[in-house]
Amino acid sequence: MGADAEEEPTPLGTQGVTHVVRVGTTVRRPVRPFTATVQVYLAHLHAHGFRSAPRPLGYDEQGREVLSFVEGDVPTEPLPDDATGDRVLADLAVLVRRLHDASAGFVPPPDAVWGTLPGEPPRGVVPLFEEPELVSHQDYCPGNVVFVGGRPTALIDFDLARPTTRVADLVNALHWWVPLLHPLDRAPSLVEADVAERVRLFADAYDMPPGMRAQVVPLAVQRARNSTVTMRAAAVADPVFRRWWEAGVKDRLPRAEQWLLAEADRITEQLMTSPHRPS
Ligand SMILES: Nc1ncnc2c1ncn2[C@@H]1O[C@H](COP(=O)(O)OP(=O)(O)O)[C@@H](O)[C@H]1O
Ligand SMILES: [Mg+2]
Repeated sequence: MGADAEEEPTPLGTQGVTHVVRVGTTVRRPVRPFTATVQVYLAHLHAHGFRSAPRPLGYDEQGREVLSFVEGDVPTEPLPDDATGDRVLADLAVLVRRLHDASAGFVPPPDAVWGTLPGEPPRGVVPLFEEPELVSHQDYCPGNVVFVGGRPTALIDFDLARPTTRVADLVNALHWWVPLLHPLDRAPSLVEADVAERVRLFADAYDMPPGMRAQVVPLAVQRARNSTVTMRAAAVADPVFRRWWEAGVKDRLPRAEQWLLAEADRITEQLMTSPHRPS
């Protein structure tokens, strides 16, 4: 194909971490140490029925990673009102459940490399699990979810995909989408949201068994603690993270942890009393 108008590169995500451009029906991303591993993982997902992710298309003549462009709308923070409804949350839970089920049989290559946030691996991070169960996305921020017709239909940006557990991965999605944030830090339409009810709704849509439900709040608290430490280290190492940190992350994460601790019993009670419908 020649360099016609459709082939002109369009910058995407100019506010983010990664220099991503769209070229026609594809996106091009810089190759990082984990890129080959992510391509293998995405290929596994597509081969196992999960097509709600970019298709890995190898590398271009400039040595960049090539992925399919996923058509749709990607929200930015604060979440717009139409991305905060209960149906969106339930759809997202089902999307992540499908991702988990497709990921379950994935055996990472022996030379797998996983992405991390910038900075030295900080001290004080307490792992959320002993043994990983599967590889999953681990970064469900609004900018990584594609909507079509007002509903979340695909996940993009697998840069932080890595071995994890189902519930450790889910507390990331809950953080962003319930959200597990102090009311001061939420999108306008979620300031008065019934968080316990929304966590339960997500758990029901995911079809979360009782053993996982019991872990949600303790892991979410530990995740908030870990995030404060890792984001502080990333802010020291990288100017984009420094901007986010100074713009409010440094207050938002400790506030989320304190607020979660205060709400912990109420959320867990709601989760555990919910009827679990085996599928
Ligand atoms: N495969 C894709 N399909 C559609 N849009 C994409 C794709 N990859 C990236 N984008 C767009 O570019 C933005 C930034 O890309 P992303 O991979 O999330 O990078 P970052 O690491 O900066 O978060 C996304 O929020 C989305 O709007
Ligand atoms: Mg992203």
